[in-house]
Amino acid sequence: MESMNDFKNITIEIVKEGNYAVISINRPDKLNALDYYTLKEIAEALELHEVNPQVRCVVLRGTKEYTKKPAFSAGADLSARGFEDLEKDNLRHQYQAMYRRHKYYDLIEEFPKPLIAAVDGYALGGGFELVLACDIVIASERSVFGFPEIRRGIFPANGGTQRLVRHLGVFEAKKLMFFGDHYSAKQMHELGIVGFLVKDDEFEQFVHEKASWLGNAPTNSLFLIKKSINYGTQVALNVGLQFEHFGYALNSTSQDVQEGVKAFLEKREPVFKGR
Ligand code: COA
Repeated sequence: MESMNDFKNITIEIVKEGNYAVISINRPDKLNALDYYTLKEIAEALELHEVNPQVRCVVLRGTKEYTKKPAFSAGADLSARGFEDLEKDNLRHQYQAMYRRHKYYDLIEEFPKPLIAAVDGYALGGGFELVLACDIVIASERSVFGFPEIRRGIFPANGGTQRLVRHLGVFEAKKLMFFGDHYSAKQMHELGIVGFLVKDDEFEQFVHEKASWLGNAPTNSLFLIKKSINYGTQVALNVGLQFEHFGYALNSTSQDVQEGVKAFLEKREPVFKGR
């Protein structure tokens, strides 16, 4: 394991394991609540990894070194002060406050390599919204999900009302957001948000196995599949299918597709280089 804390992170930690990197939100005393700087640091760390050929998958998680309760993130930091340059009673300024946070959620979602949300503990509000910006969700059985904002009179505005509804549909999304109840990882697995539900004591090894697999997979193909799914689902089917035409054509120029087919014909395991 190699530390990648080469720029001054205050709220996150970055380590590299093989071909993947792990970004851990490191605010255990606040159950990894997300203030503006934490989001900014996550987005900036991902930007560094975009162009690093040694990193072909990223795991986003809460710190393993929890001090109170295990958490991915308990949501927006309710104790954080607002932006000093923005006025509380100015509607344009408050629009801007949300724009600044959205910008980072969007950057995180746009990361061009596989991004795993490894959830062990609470994933609430803005923490859940961070999960929704990832590609694959692995959760330990003890994890808890939900949108508790309504219980505090808050609008869940880090992409929740828009991203969740695209996964669960209008009625399920309203149920979560109108009542603010907590949901078990098992329930989230049944709803299709959690892709892999794993026993608590098998969580670390499972995350490592999936991240290692993606870190050694054909990175260009994964990139094209990700973009095709993320953008193709936002347009009419005949337009979305165009993403497949172009995706297929672009993918056919990558070295890994040649290696994959060659290895199959030679009856050996392929060695993908992410090119
Ligand atoms: N922002 C800031 N601090 C938070 C936080 C948040 N979103 N969530 C938890 N914390 C802090 C608590 O204030 C507490 O700090 P303290 O020990 O210094 O008092 C610490 O994390 C532990 O939380 P606590 O509430 O004591 O733990 P718990 O096990 O009783 O409950 C939760 C855990 C997650 C259910 C509860 O903390 C909670 O509901 N948090 C807020 C979740 C939320 O509303 N998120 C959406 C925000 S828009």
